[in-house]
Amino acid sequence: MAERLILTGFMGSGKTAVGKRLAGKLGWDFFDADPLVEQHLGMPIHEIFEIHGESGFRKAEEAVVLGLLEEASRAQTGTVVSLGGGAVTIPAVYERLTREPLVVLLDEDINMAFKRARGGKRPLADDRDKFQALYSERESLYRSLSKYIVDTRGLKVEQVADRIIRLIHERTGIL
Ligand code: S3P
Repeated sequence: MAERLILTGFMGSGKTAVGKRLAGKLGWDFFDADPLVEQHLGMPIHEIFEIHGESGFRKAEEAVVLGLLEEASRAQTGTVVSLGGGAVTIPAVYERLTREPLVVLLDEDINMAFKRARGGKRPLADDRDKFQALYSERESLYRSLSKYIVDTRGLKVEQVADRIIRLIHERTGIL
């Protein structure tokens, strides 16, 4: 069974950029869940929220993420998967992730995360107070699920990727 490294964390924590860099460094495949959900329903995320509501988005996200993890477990090479920030709120995804050994939380400063996430593309990042409240609601989910927590404050993408590789290597000998 091939290795899977799964990145989780709030919107704007850098999951996509770090995931790409990590996959490049490891020579693994990279999958970003959000664009796959967009492909699945044939429209951008903000439209999915408008037309199908958040529940419609989560339903598609659940199918995509579970399918992706299944496929990754049967792959010949390792896979890095960057999840959308709300995937952990889906019970079946949460349960599936508890059985994954390499779940990594990118723990970013909330002001920096909002700065990166705001600007129209993310329906749940249009208001600073709501963004903060959503983070507070989810924080314990992220922390309870993740086997590795990386404090990304002030670090560049490259440094975060190196830190993740070092951390997993020190603890498990793999990577
Ligand atoms: C969401 C996070 C987004 C995207 C959607 C909802 C969330 O992904 O899945 O807008 O509920 O936190 P990113 O974390 O990649 O921004």
